[in-house]
Amino acid sequence: MVSELAVKILALSLVLGAVAGSIRPSKLLRQVPAAIFVLGNNNYLPGKNIPRADQPYYDFSFFRKKNLMLGVVAGNIRPSKMLQQVPAAAIYVFGDSTLDVGNNNYLPGKNVPRPDRPFYGIDMPGSGKPNGRFSNGYNTADFVAKIMGFMSSPPPYLSLAPSSDNLVLTAMDTGVSYASSGAGILDSTVQYFNATWSKMVASKGFGAVSTLLSRSVFLIGLGGNDLSAFANTQQAQSDVAAFYRILISNYKATITDLYTMGARKYAVINVGLSGCLPVARVLDPTGACSTTRNKLAAGFNDALRSLLAGLAPRLPGLVYSLADSYGIMVDIFADPQASGFTDVSSACCGTGRLGAGGCSPTSTLCANHGQHYFWDGIHPSQRAASLRVQAFYDGPAMYTTPINFKQLVFASGTQ
Ligand SMILES: *[C@@H]1O[C@H](CO)[C@@H](O)[C@H](O)[C@H]1NC(C)=O
Repeated sequence: MVSELAVKILALSLVLGAVAGSIRPSKLLRQVPAAIFVLGNNNYLPGKNIPRADQPYYDFSFFRKKNLMLGVVAGNIRPSKMLQQVPAAAIYVFGDSTLDVGNNNYLPGKNVPRPDRPFYGIDMPGSGKPNGRFSNGYNTADFVAKIMGFMSSPPPYLSLAPSSDNLVLTAMDTGVSYASSGAGILDSTVQYFNATWSKMVASKGFGAVSTLLSRSVFLIGLGGNDLSAFANTQQAQSDVAAFYRILISNYKATITDLYTMGARKYAVINVGLSGCLPVARVLDPTGACSTTRNKLAAGFNDALRSLLAGLAPRLPGLVYSLADSYGIMVDIFADPQASGFTDVSSACCGTGRLGAGGCSPTSTLCANHGQHYFWDGIHPSQRAASLRVQAFYDGPAMYTTPINFKQLVFASGTQ
């Protein structure tokens, strides 16, 4: 009975996804091109003998090689020892448009959600151009990576996949992003990590890969698209519990699959206050938040919290930090000015009422991008993303359970 319903809801949600143009990575994460960048970690290592690229004009790739050589020559700092102190060896990202840094730019089809036009990226340092993020600049994945010692989010999988060498090199060095706008819990992107993992193991060996992964952070932020697809169908309240069960069972499979391949440290971001997104508010004649959508998110978040609390003791060595995107939005929205926001209901870049109609070159921009919580009808502004990440990393304890991202990074990931 339950499984029949499950199948029905699953099918419905997939159809809706297609209809709404919300793109399914399982079908889409296939095409490819190439790009690469290299980063450094050592500014976070303690001790005056650790070489650091903390002067201007430093070439990071050169530095990294030099750094390892110095360690061997000097004899006092061995690379293996240094690596044990690197806070996060690499970061692997699984998520939707709040974390995507460009995978969708590689996907074909005109219905693929892609932030490939102005004014996306307008505040991106150095370029001011669209750069694969649904933001005016950096997004949440970038700020998580930055605060953990990287220059920005690891690069999108689809930019690396054409070359096995590039993919393995980057996967071992910084990690890889599998986040894709429109993705949900029901679209497993784990298969792309599986493909990466097999190549890593073939090239570097099982032991080296397991060690690296146990010291790496797995950043996961999923569920918003699944819940909004569900809400859009106006399912009866009685279906909600069954829907949660499907989502949680898929979430569990994602975590355990990653664990089987060596993942130990999970930074999980729950679903935000989805009823208060401009695209949800605009459905109400007065522009009020949708209580139904907020309750749907809150119920899912409860189930996610229970899942992680129940799973951790059964998977030895697993550590996690669950970040409360929902809670921090509740608090910021209750007193926007305390966080420097003058507007938490309408998009900075958008068209129509509340700017919910989409950010495009013809949109009117708000005067101060950082004073709007929302950059477009769905996604936080660069400043909002930065604030949340600071809170998740080492902010007030109420925004993370049971530990914060910083404690997660420094926890020992036992193999
Ligand atoms: C990925 O690998 C894990 C661990 O070996 C396995 O349990 C899972 O079924 C694989 N998933 C896919 C989609 O291939």
